[in-house]
Amino acid sequence: MNVCIIGTGYVGLVTGVCLAEIGNTVTCVDKIKEKINLLKNGDSPIYEPKLDEFLKRNIKDNKLEFTTDISNAIKKSEIIYICVGTPPLSNGQADLRYVEEAAYEIGKNINDMKIVINKSTVPIGSGDWVSMVILDSMEKNNNQNKNVCFSVVSNPEFLREGSAIDDTFFPDRIVIGSSSKKAVDKMLKLYEPIINQSFEWPDDKRLIPEGSKIPVVISDLTSAEMIKYAANSFLATKISFINEIANICEKVGADVSKVAEGIGLDKRIGPAFLNAGIGWGGSCFPKDVSALSNIAGEYGLSTQILNAVVNVNREQRLKITQKLQDELKIIKGKTIAVLGISFKPDTNDTREAPSIKIMNDLVNLGARVKAFDPIIKSSPDSLSGKVLLCGNAYEAVEDADLFILATEWVDFLRLDYVKIKKIMRNSVVIDGRNYLDKDNLEKIGFKYIGIGR
Ligand code: UDX
Repeated sequence: MNVCIIGTGYVGLVTGVCLAEIGNTVTCVDKIKEKINLLKNGDSPIYEPKLDEFLKRNIKDNKLEFTTDISNAIKKSEIIYICVGTPPLSNGQADLRYVEEAAYEIGKNINDMKIVINKSTVPIGSGDWVSMVILDSMEKNNNQNKNVCFSVVSNPEFLREGSAIDDTFFPDRIVIGSSSKKAVDKMLKLYEPIINQSFEWPDDKRLIPEGSKIPVVISDLTSAEMIKYAANSFLATKISFINEIANICEKVGADVSKVAEGIGLDKRIGPAFLNAGIGWGGSCFPKDVSALSNIAGEYGLSTQILNAVVNVNREQRLKITQKLQDELKIIKGKTIAVLGISFKPDTNDTREAPSIKIMNDLVNLGARVKAFDPIIKSSPDSLSGKVLLCGNAYEAVEDADLFILATEWVDFLRLDYVKIKKIMRNSVVIDGRNYLDKDNLEKIGFKYIGIGR
């Protein structure tokens, strides 16, 4: 099928590349010329495992192209994905400006039957609003194709940064929300290779055996929109829950890793998303939890669980500074190394990364902060000038009084901790992700401080 993707951010780019990979002809559109030029050359503006390889191959096979010409891209496609950003406004509501712009362009350029897929996470009810914007735009632009039909479908994404390609090809489920049977059938056809796991995979490491069936949830538009918010909010709740348990574990002398293992084996609970640490960040959880809370507020509902989930997460970051104060007493004049800046491993995304808040707090308390991340090579805006970004982990920990592990990059498991102990001023580690080998570090002579253990 001919597919147009509006917005080449994380979701748009990964979706476009994957749909090309399963045999469609995909045109990705973005307003940012520099980004499109980069992508045309097969260079990805984001770091995501496997993306580069898939991107280059599909461009070469003429299945994937990049353009700033939205009008032509819409006209030649039967399926149009809206994958633009919905950043939070200062009041926590989602900013729908870019979704509106995309819908307006669709209305202006629509020339035959289209399926418009909302992949951006939008407030409940936005599907109908997108239809309205498209119709208004057709009217306003005096579009001659007034009688053409279109259907809006909600098809939320559940991909995680760092494993976005795998998550797209091997999803737990696919959600399609629409009132049009025709549109649903088209979507089922589009995703058929994924639903039946019949696509070719470049290596033999398939995460789901060939020929398996991926469950598909077909619902109305509103329920599909709600599924996305409820899923992300539930996952954030799981993490805040285990972090609260971790804080109690610290007081009573229990080990939260064991507790997580013990409760996670209960099938009703499940082991995933029970890693205690410095809390959740990224581009989705913070924005989606507060957007859902806001939506509830519009109906006069107060979201007591969601509010607590956010509060626990906010406090979890502060706990690192408290642990530092307990250990070093005075922070002023101390050198602290931070290993890992991105909000999680295998991504260069620093949005709402707990490391940033922690580093800012330490600088404000008078510490000298040195940081290293395997991928991030320039200081995020909110830190620039305040923190010394080092070329490797050893440079970062040299002369440090303490180091904090803020992101569980696998690279940090392979460091020479005997050497690190020698070059640090004081051998203390705060493992913000309970990721390092506690026993080994203690054997080397480190003071190991974890979360909830
Ligand atoms: C999330 C959802 O998982 C995905 O389905 C959705 O489409 C987008 O939002 P992402 O933000 O990429 O994906 O990251 P995810 O792996 O879910 O982690 C989110 C945050 O939770 C990270 O900061 C991570 O460090 C933290 N986390 C995760 C924990 O602290 N403990 C855990 O056990 C799991």
